[in-house]
Amino acid sequence: PVLVVDFGAQYAQLIARRVREASVYSEIVPHTITADEVRALDPIGIVLSGGPSSVYEEGAPSLDPGILELGVPTLGICYGFQVMAQQLGGEVAHTGAREYGATDAKVVDVSGNPLLADQPAAQTVWMSHGDSVSRAPEGFEVLASTEGTPVAAFGNDEKKFYGVQWHPEVKHSEYGQSVLENFLHRAAGIPADWNPGNVIAEQVERIRAQVGSARVIAGLSGGVDSAVAAALVHKAVGDQLVCVFVDHGLLRKGEREQVETDYVAATGIRLVTVDAADTFLDALAGVSDPETKRKIIGREFIRAFEQAERDLIAEAAADGEPIKFLVQGTLYPDVVESGGGTGTANIKSHHNVGGLPEDLQFELVEPLRTLFKDEVRAIGRELGLPHEIVGRQPFPGPGLGIRIVGEVTRDRLDLLREADAIAREELTAAGLDDDIWQCPVVLLADVRSVGVQGDGRTYGHPIVLRPVSSEDAMTADWTRLPYDVLAKISNRITNEVREVNRVVLDVTSKPPGTIEWE
Ligand code: XMP
Repeated sequence: PVLVVDFGAQYAQLIARRVREASVYSEIVPHTITADEVRALDPIGIVLSGGPSSVYEEGAPSLDPGILELGVPTLGICYGFQVMAQQLGGEVAHTGAREYGATDAKVVDVSGNPLLADQPAAQTVWMSHGDSVSRAPEGFEVLASTEGTPVAAFGNDEKKFYGVQWHPEVKHSEYGQSVLENFLHRAAGIPADWNPGNVIAEQVERIRAQVGSARVIAGLSGGVDSAVAAALVHKAVGDQLVCVFVDHGLLRKGEREQVETDYVAATGIRLVTVDAADTFLDALAGVSDPETKRKIIGREFIRAFEQAERDLIAEAAADGEPIKFLVQGTLYPDVVESGGGTGTANIKSHHNVGGLPEDLQFELVEPLRTLFKDEVRAIGRELGLPHEIVGRQPFPGPGLGIRIVGEVTRDRLDLLREADAIAREELTAAGLDDDIWQCPVVLLADVRSVGVQGDGRTYGHPIVLRPVSSEDAMTADWTRLPYDVLAKISNRITNEVREVNRVVLDVTSKPPGTIEWE
């Protein structure tokens, strides 16, 4: 792999993704990794990430100097660039001058140096730093400068060491991806031959080796992660896998059918659906507080899942092959965030299906552990899963239960389901699915507003549209949807959904507003 050394900012994940977008497999490792550990991983390239610190700060994250003696092509970015400069005998200065945001960089034409080859001499780069490299180490050529930073990029072709002060991984750096690709392909000579599809064969082998002849159980949420994880396991061990799908009555229109009909038809998976809508709605009766709703839904989910599990365990035991494994759709960002990195220690199992119990007596099968979301989608497509599932936008485990502001009732769920289906239909028809991250549709059940419909006065409820754009749901902005699409959605909802006489648009970014209303 290419190792991305994480110096503690949120950039490492982005870098790892961009490297993969350049068709090279990458993994994130902590900066505390030793040279021996790096050698054991046999990397074909190393990227040192940016970080929040100054190399002068006490306790600033450092790098085992032996890593730069392994002969592995290395690219330093921002903080990583400064660490490299310092360790290789250059100089880093507290200039006091900060550069933050879009900055004009001048590429110095050092003929033959591959890092900035084929790039315009003037370009916009994204900067975020206080310290600067004031002198490049011996043997290094200065490749670019900005007004505030005379040494903004350097390279040493003989050692295959390079560095840039700016952030090539962010889209605001005009030629950023090309800097990364130049480093990987031209400077380090790494071929562009990895794609998420390669993972399928590898995972199938791995799952077979792990599971043997034992039985496996998987929970399906209707979302892309659990669907792809289960499909991979099914490809590996066939009918040793049974899937459980809990219908909690808080699903959107058509979701149960997508799982029960389309997904099962595409995969041939054995599915057990638990019809738990009554239980959930009884438990939610009279409850308006969002946190209480979440707790109830989480608790009931576990109960429903465990009941199904007990039945299946009994069945499997009678059959002679017990259930020993549970599939989880854990993704790479969850692994990295919990300090997992490349090791196996210290990893939380991310409870993707709405909160599975901690004390399950199963070993986990996590075939998506090395993958990012877009890669999981690519694999899902390659496995032939239905488009509606593979392309599905995020939907919270508690479902429509946290999109009704007020008590959750059957009637209200029906209203919301209709309104939500209309919004989704129109957004898809307008070709906007790729522009939005997700679009919660919220029923303000505790609010009434006056309207006039037909000849009469109505006293109904507003529906809120919450379209957001985001890369990771941590931050988000409201999506500027075309007015005519909004008009169409509003018209249809107020005409077709009884008791709704008003549609409003949420124009709040996150922060301060969360994506969901509850
Ligand atoms: P917020 O509302 O916190 O949402 O900005 C961030 C992302 O997480 C989803 N979300 C959930 N997903 N269980 C889930 O599986 C939950 O309880 C839950 N709450 C929020 C939300 O849809 C958005 O994508």
